[in-house]
Amino acid sequence: MSTSKPLALVTGASSGIGAAFARRLAADGYGLILVARRRGRLEALAAELGGADILEADLSQDSGLQLVEQRVLQEPDLELLVNNAGFGTMGRFFEIPLDGQDAMHRLHVLATMRLTHAALRAMVPRGTGAVINVSSVAAFGQNPGAVSYCATKAWMNSFTEGLDMELKTAGSRVKVQALCPGFTTTEFQDVAGVDRTRIPKRLWMPAEFVVDASLKGLARGQIFVVPGAIYKLLTVLQLWTPRSLRIAATLHFWRSNKEKV
Ligand SMILES: NC(=O)c1ccc[n+]([C@@H]2O[C@H](COP(=O)([O-])OP(=O)(O)OC[C@H]3O[C@@H](n4cnc5c(N)ncnc54)[C@H](OP(=O)(O)O)[C@@H]3O)[C@@H](O)[C@H]2O)c1
Repeated sequence: MSTSKPLALVTGASSGIGAAFARRLAADGYGLILVARRRGRLEALAAELGGADILEADLSQDSGLQLVEQRVLQEPDLELLVNNAGFGTMGRFFEIPLDGQDAMHRLHVLATMRLTHAALRAMVPRGTGAVINVSSVAAFGQNPGAVSYCATKAWMNSFTEGLDMELKTAGSRVKVQALCPGFTTTEFQDVAGVDRTRIPKRLWMPAEFVVDASLKGLARGQIFVVPGAIYKLLTVLQLWTPRSLRIAATLHFWRSNKEKV
């Protein structure tokens, strides 16, 4: 892409947090490459933003991932990669179809790993750039009914933390961030089949708020960004609680709410 603007690539830009990233980055003067499966949505967003490149790709498929990976490798000036595409499922791991779990691991883990590698190949020698991995507060614990989701998001946090260490020990100024939102008003719950009415209103955040917290955190060089005071508090409590107590509390909650698993 030939542009004098800084360039960002956002996966999962056809809705929710990814679309909010695209709108905010466009307003901040970035040129954009938008990635998702729903081409129509991407075209509408690109038109709204006054132009953006579009890559229609299923990142859980080898062909889709290769397409985007090649594009990242062809953009040596890429300033920002946002690994945002993701989805959740509901149901016990051993009872739900394997295909969805397989696709989730490919999308959250394999795509994040490969696209980050492709981006860092140019960013590190250049000495500038950033990667934001959209993780979740779910990364800080486990939850019956969302085991693969929590596990893949925990991988994203661990991967990001390790990369940050490697970049710092290599003396690089390239930044990485794991963005860990709680309940955000997007299409996520529709895709996962979550009943929004069961979740207290005060726990919901707009996608724009999450993106603002992420970019402010990036400017400060913050590795883990947990948007919202409630979620900051819950995360700190979770991290400070001994694992055995955390597991016992989770099991107690889910045993008394069997129908939700
Ligand atoms: N909303 C929340 O409460 C919440 C909380 C914590 C973390 N998150 C994380 O935030 C990220 C964005 O989710 P969201 O809340 O904005 O949900 P969303 O509105 O459902 O957006 C998900 C995006 O991911 C894309 N996507 C899904 N599967 C894909 C695939 N196989 N290949 C390419 N793109 C794919 C979707 O586009 P297409 O369908 O067009 O492909 C869509 O643009 C996810 O990683 C999610 O885990 C969300």
